[in-house]
Amino acid sequence: EIDVLRECGRRMAHILSELADAVRPGISTADLNRLAEASIERAGGVAVFKGYVVENSPPYPAAICTSVNDEVVHAIPRDNAILREGDIVGIDIGMAWPKNQAKEFPQYSGVPLVTDAARTIGVGAISPFLARLVKKTEEALFVGVKEVKPGNRVGDISAAIEKFLSAEGFGIVRGLAGHGVGYDIHEDPIIPNYGKRGTGAYLKPGMVIAIEPMATLGGGDVRLDQDGWTFRTADGSPSAHFEHTLVLTDDGAEILTMI
Ligand code: MF3
Ligand code: CO
Repeated sequence: EIDVLRECGRRMAHILSELADAVRPGISTADLNRLAEASIERAGGVAVFKGYVVENSPPYPAAICTSVNDEVVHAIPRDNAILREGDIVGIDIGMAWPKNQAKEFPQYSGVPLVTDAARTIGVGAISPFLARLVKKTEEALFVGVKEVKPGNRVGDISAAIEKFLSAEGFGIVRGLAGHGVGYDIHEDPIIPNYGKRGTGAYLKPGMVIAIEPMATLGGGDVRLDQDGWTFRTADGSPSAHFEHTLVLTDDGAEILTMI
């Protein structure tokens, strides 16, 4: 299963980096989604976000989430959401693999396994404030990743991310969190981006988790749009989001969604 997840994560990381390269002024977020859907198909994967259901919202209609500026996460790609120079866009992608029996893994007959990752990308030249937000949010992800080892607890990841982002003066989004992943897009445990060291579930070899800090240039409160999916900052401040899927090994962790 870990070998299959590795292959899934590697293929998905290539797609996410292809999407990041496609970001430029004038492209719509629906264009990015079309690119993602075609690439996932070509990779032999399944777009697991598409059709995903949560209570009180319509099924999620796309393969990726494309969250611009004050949109924090889960914004739906749209033809009329045209990226402009100076914007930042968070691209969040999930994929299950293999859709059909993979020739690379003749011995694997189980269900397709899931990885989840996100990156925030500047559109053309962006302000120094936004550049710093983006850079530090990515750093916060790696500050969390450093805590991922057997014997540590979920609270160690949470506390490390909170400490780092608070020291940088950013708002921390508390209403959304990282999570277990692998068989499903969202599994236990929930991994908040704030918390107390020495608390929460113990991390064990074989666990597969997604860590995903979300930071803002203002406060951490979010609101859900009428569309039932898009979370945006309550104060209109811009927000950045980075995410990786990791597997716990005997002595540490391996990031699955990096090329
Ligand atoms: N990566 C997203 C998360 O962990 C998953 C989004 S599911 C979707 O929250 F349906 F909103 F796309
Ligand atoms: Co996630």
